[in-house]
Amino acid sequence: MNRIAIQTSLPGPKSRAILNRLKEKNGAFNIDHAYVHSGEGKGSHFADVDGNVFLDFAGQIASNPLGYNNAAMLKVLQKHSNFTPIKYGGQDFTVPQHLHLLEELLKIVPKPMDAAFLINSGAEANENAIKIACHRNPAAKIGISFYNGWHGRTTGALSLTNSRSVQVKHYLRIPVRHISFTDNAAQEIEELILREYAPDEIGFVAVENVQGEGGYYPATKTMMQGIRKTTKKYGIPLICDEVQSGMGRTGKWWAYQHYDIVPDIQTCAKALQVAATVSKKSMFPTEGGAISSTWGGGHVLDMAMGAAIIREIKKKKLMKNATRMGNEIHERLKEIHTQYETIHHPRGLGLMQAFDLSDTKTRNQVRDKCFQNGLIVLGCGWSGIRMSPSLNITKEEVNEGMNIIEDVVKTIKKN
Ligand SMILES: Cc1ncc(COP(=O)(O)O)c(C=O)c1O
Repeated sequence: MNRIAIQTSLPGPKSRAILNRLKEKNGAFNIDHAYVHSGEGKGSHFADVDGNVFLDFAGQIASNPLGYNNAAMLKVLQKHSNFTPIKYGGQDFTVPQHLHLLEELLKIVPKPMDAAFLINSGAEANENAIKIACHRNPAAKIGISFYNGWHGRTTGALSLTNSRSVQVKHYLRIPVRHISFTDNAAQEIEELILREYAPDEIGFVAVENVQGEGGYYPATKTMMQGIRKTTKKYGIPLICDEVQSGMGRTGKWWAYQHYDIVPDIQTCAKALQVAATVSKKSMFPTEGGAISSTWGGGHVLDMAMGAAIIREIKKKKLMKNATRMGNEIHERLKEIHTQYETIHHPRGLGLMQAFDLSDTKTRNQVRDKCFQNGLIVLGCGWSGIRMSPSLNITKEEVNEGMNIIEDVVKTIKKN
């Protein structure tokens, strides 16, 4: 299974039958790509239940770092074939996999961060980052995050998010001020302090070093170093959300390492298979129960997979591959941009690559045409297409996918 092979009209009949039933039963049905995974696959290719083979440039929204049916992952599965329940009440009744994952994770975060709390989702990791920051500082009245940012859908994380009104309107939120994701960010924090808030009334500043859902926009070094300097000056905890950009995706373990900064708290999830809030042990609340969760640190398989993924990224030097393959994609995007002028603003860091079309409708057409040709890509921002394939994607796979993108954008009218 190493080439795209579309054998039915899409969706195929078996996928269509499942999707039609799912649509009725799933309270939040919102599927752009009409197919159903079969579980078969190899590398970045997978088959749907109708036997169609696709190439995956979306990587389960950056959460499939080793591709389909990777040998190291299958080994973890086999090792746990006699281990149930697979979900423990992990903060109360622990398993060795909890310790092993924490040990692997803490080897790859910079000092002084030396402790982590495991939880179920990226949004929950951000909730706990908010709680850890505010626990130290009960005077806090607001948090700060960024226009166009994305941090998840639970109430606290949603309050940091600034993406589309459909995601936030009708929902209660905690007090957060959004500032611009530009070199002016540090100055805007200064302005808030000058005009409205004492420094200890600002509970935290939360930022994605590369905005994900918002469009795959990397911050500049000036912006990130400015924010770090200002937050340090006023003792405001800086939270870096590495849920999408972390775990080697940008060519370094954490995107903030491109900016030579270290946050006070960082979050990660997706490629780790488990979510984690990481900080200095001394930042965490010491009273038992101040933060906890039934399944935090309790999903045995996810934790074993997360530890194996970290080891595999090191062993196979996958961050180097992410840089190399990211550059390949970027160079091809620049060529397509120059040749056809139908795509705009190729951008990205490592294997977070994106480009824009002229508007949302055209973007959706490009995404859907790629799909009809067997390539899975995702939208981002208002008019962007993003690519976040597995970190071990090969040059052949990159070429196969980029040829489809070129063929599709050739057919789009210049604008
Ligand atoms: C940067 C970032 N933070 C947080 C989240 C939320 O993660 P989850 O969907 O696991 O709650 C996401 C998900 O896309 C993300 O990209």
